[in-house]
Amino acid sequence: MSLLEAHGLEVAFDLPDGELRAVQGVAFSLDAGERLGLVGESGSGKTTTVLALMGLLPPTASVAGDVRLDGRDLLRDGERGCDPWRWRDIATVFQGAMNALNPVRTIGWQIAEPMEVHRTATGAAARSRTRELLALTGLPPGIERAYPHELSGGMRQRAAIAMALACQPKVLLADEPTTALDVVVQDGILRLLTQLTDELDLALVLVTHDLAAAAATCTRLAVMYAGRVVEEAPVGDIMGSAQHPYTRQLFAATPSLLDNTPVRPIPGIPPRLDRPIDGCPFAPRCEARFDRCSREPPALVTVGEGWRSACHLSAAGHSQDAADTSRRTDVALTPSMSTSADGPPAAHSGKSVPAASGPAPTAAPARRPGPGELRAAPSAAALARDSSPVADDRAAGSALVLDGIFVAFPRRRPVADVLRRRPRPFVRAVDGVGIRQDLDRQRDRRERRIDPRRHHDRRARGCRDGQEGPPPELPAGTAGVPGPL
Ligand SMILES: Nc1ncnc2c1ncn2[C@@H]1O[C@H](COP(=O)(O)OP(=O)(O)OP(=O)(O)O)[C@@H](O)[C@H]1O
Ligand code: SF4
Ligand SMILES: [Mg+2]
Repeated sequence: MSLLEAHGLEVAFDLPDGELRAVQGVAFSLDAGERLGLVGESGSGKTTTVLALMGLLPPTASVAGDVRLDGRDLLRDGERGCDPWRWRDIATVFQGAMNALNPVRTIGWQIAEPMEVHRTATGAAARSRTRELLALTGLPPGIERAYPHELSGGMRQRAAIAMALACQPKVLLADEPTTALDVVVQDGILRLLTQLTDELDLALVLVTHDLAAAAATCTRLAVMYAGRVVEEAPVGDIMGSAQHPYTRQLFAATPSLLDNTPVRPIPGIPPRLDRPIDGCPFAPRCEARFDRCSREPPALVTVGEGWRSACHLSAAGHSQDAADTSRRTDVALTPSMSTSADGPPAAHSGKSVPAASGPAPTAAPARRPGPGELRAAPSAAALARDSSPVADDRAAGSALVLDGIFVAFPRRRPVADVLRRRPRPFVRAVDGVGIRQDLDRQRDRRERRIDPRRHHDRRARGCRDGQEGPPPELPAGTAGVPGPL
């Protein structure tokens, strides 16, 4: 049994004309000393989940589900039932410490208050513990007599963390604790949270938009979309080879400091949560969607050790089809091409595995072809089972479909980079190439070739294949050698 366990957590807000289902069946577990990052776009339900765990939702919210701390049911007695454990067992650091701290009370008074209220320490003992906590969070002696407006943003956030630790909780919920702080201060706060969880054996839930911060701080990531957890996995696994298309698109939309990979925004917007959603909520924006996605909501299924994903492509029943789809556009690798997870993917399939993703989204990873190995075409039965868009192309008579082909060659690293275990840089020789050759078009061309008059007319008009009018002019400045890859 884990320290904190949530199963089927649901939160709905009453609206004048219905309800908004902000959290839908969220489930996770957390052990002492573990750090879980809760990430996702704005409005995905991260804060609502945290507030539900703290029993701090407004009266318009109704909560259901099973949340247990050390086996105790936290939701059984509603908000009143939270008093015995709130701050004592689960504490929170709110976003924007200036708003969370009382401007007319000293920092020391505010840190001592929860101890007095919950009777964990009183009087001189509470004041002494306050000084200890301020020192623990890296604040200078005497700061307890200051008011919030006398502190910098980073110092206020440290004071807010000290306040959350006042009653020695087992679980710390930190909702965007570094928003509006500069990166140096941000780094200091995240290091402090890491150090505290290690030293005090705290369990941490870190809510953040910043994937890099979550990856650097947490041991596991839970990705939320439209009020649901769509993927949860150990950080090392999810960073290199996320299974869920949303996670992959989220990573692709995040700038990388390691290379110049262009940022690819996720098209569209998240769905409205006050309307019913048929099928997968991510379907309208998903690069890998296929017929079944708009009909049937995917279940969160286990796809590896400590790894769950809510996507039809990850579901066990679809794994073989997905493997077939992934193999269809793989290209053979030469020995010098890298398959290292710390660089861009050397080669992977297209629509079912979009750019910036890792291996194929299958329960069992698809086998890559060996060096120089040629692949057999997928069987007719596999194509018939597969209803993905790529399969539709094949079924519609495409002779060849290549989509999202990547080939990268490793570059040498300076010794200093090897010692610091920096990832190996790559030359991106082929970057997301897609080719589709239609059988119909081939036939059409053959027919046109035997019509010399038409062929002659088109040549005379300066047409290129499949285009009307003269060939387009190159933009100014494109002459000369191409830029470095
Ligand atoms: N008090 C409320 N009444 C009605 N709807 C609400 C209320 N609070 C939040 N919501 C809605 O619940 C959904 C989830 O909101 P929430 O604040 O949990 O998202 P979030 O993931 O924390 O977003 P952000 O990253 O912007 O903080 C949103 O659609 C939001 O509009
Ligand atoms: S492939 Fe389908 S089920 Fe999976 S995320 Fe995309 S739309 Fe959802
Ligand atoms: Mg929020």
